[in-house]
Amino acid sequence: MLKMTNITKTFSKNTANEHTALDNLNLYLEKGDFVTVIGSNGAGKSTLMNAISGSFWLDNGKIELDGKNITYMREHNRAKTIGRLFQDPMKGTAPDLTIEENLALAYSGSKRRSLNLAIRKSDRDYFKTALEEFGMGLENRMKTKIGLLSGGQRQAVTLLMSSIASPKLLLLDEHTAALDPAAAKKVLEITRKIVEKNGLTTLMITHNINQALKMGNRTIMMNAGKIMLDISGEERSNMTVSKLVEMYSVKSHKELDNDRMLLSRDS
Ligand SMILES: Nc1ncnc2c1ncn2[C@@H]1O[C@H](COP(=O)(O)OP(=O)(O)OP(=O)(O)O)[C@@H](O)[C@H]1O
Ligand SMILES: [Mg+2]
Repeated sequence: MLKMTNITKTFSKNTANEHTALDNLNLYLEKGDFVTVIGSNGAGKSTLMNAISGSFWLDNGKIELDGKNITYMREHNRAKTIGRLFQDPMKGTAPDLTIEENLALAYSGSKRRSLNLAIRKSDRDYFKTALEEFGMGLENRMKTKIGLLSGGQRQAVTLLMSSIASPKLLLLDEHTAALDPAAAKKVLEITRKIVEKNGLTTLMITHNINQALKMGNRTIMMNAGKIMLDISGEERSNMTVSKLVEMYSVKSHKELDNDRMLLSRDS
């Protein structure tokens, strides 16, 4: 479904700051895979997502999505089939538009209808039912401007927007990291529901190792622009946070230096 072959990206080439953020990386996702991504700071996790979204051209390598070579497809064209959420809840929505207008925008994009903010009753009912499932009361606030919502509420709406656009791939870059623990828990729950219901192929970066092992069906660990560990099935169900941290030091010859990751070891 997603096939990345020999991906390399070096920033600031031929300068003192030269840095290879993705180093001949290979990754293959099956349709419906829900893969969690962990790794120390600067390992290249966000750069991997940027490569998939098309934020820059690769130095080398090939990216295929659903059998189609997207290596040279522009970012805004990829965005039609790739949904993305960031740590910052302000990204991805139009703050001055209401919840239902934002949802209608995402919906019209997916249906290739003309952009029209006059919302049909049937669409409004559909949005309402979807929001009800979140249990956040957002179904009663459909005419509220997104900018007035809390971070958790915004991420929930952004997730729904991503899913109604029927993406081939959903990219989540620490999308709960900026939320308070209760909101983060809620948004994770919603993530799980939305991914399951729509069978979305998903990549989720998290600094919470525990969460990485619990959510989804596969976990990859990145280090220095490469995938150093890729576990699923029984190996993954038997994996513990301590074992994973130990494997990291053995394989990379250094201690895991993602502070937030280590702080969340036991949570
Ligand atoms: N546009 C860019 N220009 C120059 N360097 C960059 C750029 N994007 C990323 N890098 C560098 O590439 C490396 C990988 O960064 P990346 O953001 O992918 O790390 P990460 O694994 O997401 O880390 P974190 O856990 O801190 O979010 C870092 O050294 C970073 O400074
Ligand atoms: Mg990052």
